[in-house]
Amino acid sequence: MNDKIVIVTGANSGIGKAAAIRFIEEGYKVIMACRNLDKSKKVQQEIIELTENDRIDLLQLDMSSFKSIEDFCFGFKEKYKKLDILIHNAGYFNHGEKNYQLSPDNIELSFATNAIGPFLMTQLLTDILKKSEDARVLNACTTNVRHFFEPKRKIDFENLQGEFMDTRPYNIYKMYGDSKMALLMLTFKMADKLKKDGIKVNAVQIPAIKMSKETMRKFKSAWRIAAVVQNVFSSSPETMADTYFHICTSEEFKDITGKLINNKREIMQSSHYASGLIQEVKQLFDKGVYPKYADNIDNIEMVWDLAVKLTKAKMKIYD
Ligand SMILES: NC(=O)c1ccc[n+]([C@@H]2O[C@H](COP(=O)([O-])OP(=O)(O)OC[C@H]3O[C@@H](n4cnc5c(N)ncnc54)[C@H](OP(=O)(O)O)[C@@H]3O)[C@@H](O)[C@H]2O)c1
Repeated sequence: MNDKIVIVTGANSGIGKAAAIRFIEEGYKVIMACRNLDKSKKVQQEIIELTENDRIDLLQLDMSSFKSIEDFCFGFKEKYKKLDILIHNAGYFNHGEKNYQLSPDNIELSFATNAIGPFLMTQLLTDILKKSEDARVLNACTTNVRHFFEPKRKIDFENLQGEFMDTRPYNIYKMYGDSKMALLMLTFKMADKLKKDGIKVNAVQIPAIKMSKETMRKFKSAWRIAAVVQNVFSSSPETMADTYFHICTSEEFKDITGKLINNKREIMQSSHYASGLIQEVKQLFDKGVYPKYADNIDNIEMVWDLAVKLTKAKMKIYD
């Protein structure tokens, strides 16, 4: 047993649940941050029985809602005096969704849940993360961002607050990729800002991982079949949970910040490949690089400014 405290968002299923189990088995105190308390209480109980350990708390959190994030952070700080590890694992991706969805704060739902929510929550927990001797934040990214190797691919900035919701077709797959690319860019700048406080911020690139039956049930029918096929070729949530654990606890990553790390636990680099067919094909197969779009300073500033603008009323901006 140790005195380290870990928050795992979306810990009621898939990788988040496997990560919660892993951290508890290693003696950490785990806080499950989940939106549906009824469903999550059952999972909490299941984990207590499985691990024969009750050092697992459950607090309500809807990552798509600023009010819920604020309430969560307030409640957490009332109860706990420090935070060592914050894992932004919760993710919204409703395969097959055709209708543009808005969050309670009028932000496109995947962008709100996957990028702006983690940005706000990390900021609101910075003071308590500072109290840890080895604070680490991990953001769940995806291989989907590799679509940004396509030179014309851009984040759809002009349609993130419903501007064209009635006139443009909604592509959940693209919005999901855009939101995770934004999360990656926010990771880079957050890491810079929080370095002075000793808080390390990294992102992990997650490949296809087996989805639970419950997650697949949320998909529209054709997508459900695709997910069943994908599952055959995918690794287990436990393998990814091991990687979360390694990045958040090992000596190897103790001083690493502002990086994207792949599922082989390698630190990735911005692509060095030039244009041209052969270079572009090599780039696609090189698992050690990510698209240059991600660390283009103008792109990062655009995402950062947007995140600040959207959340300004809720926080004192990172300074
Ligand atoms: N599985 C893959 O192939 C894959 C690949 C690349 C990246 N990822 C990323 O890995 C992470 C975990 O995914 P998973 O595969 O383990 O999927 P999962 O089993 O569906 O887990 C997603 C979790 O996020 C939670 N969540 C969604 N929206 C939320 C919100 N607004 N507030 C709070 N929690 C919310 C879900 O809660 P509910 O149960 O209440 O819906 C669930 O606990 C996600 O960030 C995902 O984008 C997964």
